[in-house]
Amino acid sequence: MANHPKPTSAPLTTLTEPDLAVLQSEPLLDSVGQALCDQGWWLGDAAVDPDLTRALRADLETLRARDALERAGIGRDLDFQLAERVRGDRIHWLSRANAVQTRLLDQMEALRLTLNQGLFLGLFEFEAHYAYYPPGSFYRRHLDSFRGAANRIVSAVIYLNEDWGEDDGGELVLYAETSSVELARIAPRAGRMVLFLSEELPHEVLPAQRDRYSIAGWYRLNASVNNQIDPAR
Ligand code: OGA
Ligand code: MN
Repeated sequence: MANHPKPTSAPLTTLTEPDLAVLQSEPLLDSVGQALCDQGWWLGDAAVDPDLTRALRADLETLRARDALERAGIGRDLDFQLAERVRGDRIHWLSRANAVQTRLLDQMEALRLTLNQGLFLGLFEFEAHYAYYPPGSFYRRHLDSFRGAANRIVSAVIYLNEDWGEDDGGELVLYAETSSVELARIAPRAGRMVLFLSEELPHEVLPAQRDRYSIAGWYRLNASVNNQIDPAR
């Protein structure tokens, strides 16, 4: 039998199409950079692959069925009523212990590297959680990050809701930095991704009429103090 030499440059993994449309297209990626610089936000329809969107949705529904979601933004029991008046979502932080969540985190990591090349933002890491908003719940107007204290630089929201109708509510409303002028009202439709500057755009989630499923994430700077890297969250 012939002794075939080992190929010298065999790929380590099979290359697959990225699950984020922005990573497949240079013009689209340019439009993200442009939009973030010029207006502080970007919206992509069909930004996330439909298979990945469905898998994430199924994963979140499983977590919900297992009672594995926690109330968001509550430090102590005393804060509970206050928090409930500000935000009514239930969350679960994404981790690499889970294959579907890893697929999204890998994509967002690739997007981080590409954004850094184009925009020189120095984004250091990405953290994200699933969010489930029961019918009637909302998230009052807020900023994701405050200038100075800030290490959240770019916010990312990904929507997982098929067949979201005009009357289903639950829109994300983006406001101009210092006024109540609405910049955009975005329905939480499956496949959509919104990116915006965390320190600049106040925003809110209007009450939804149906179960509302999403992922909220943040690209952060490296906020290291005394050589100790401040962990995510
Ligand atoms: C958030 C947030 C927006 C949305 O979780 O901080 O603003 O549309 N989410 O879910
Ligand atoms: Mn927010």
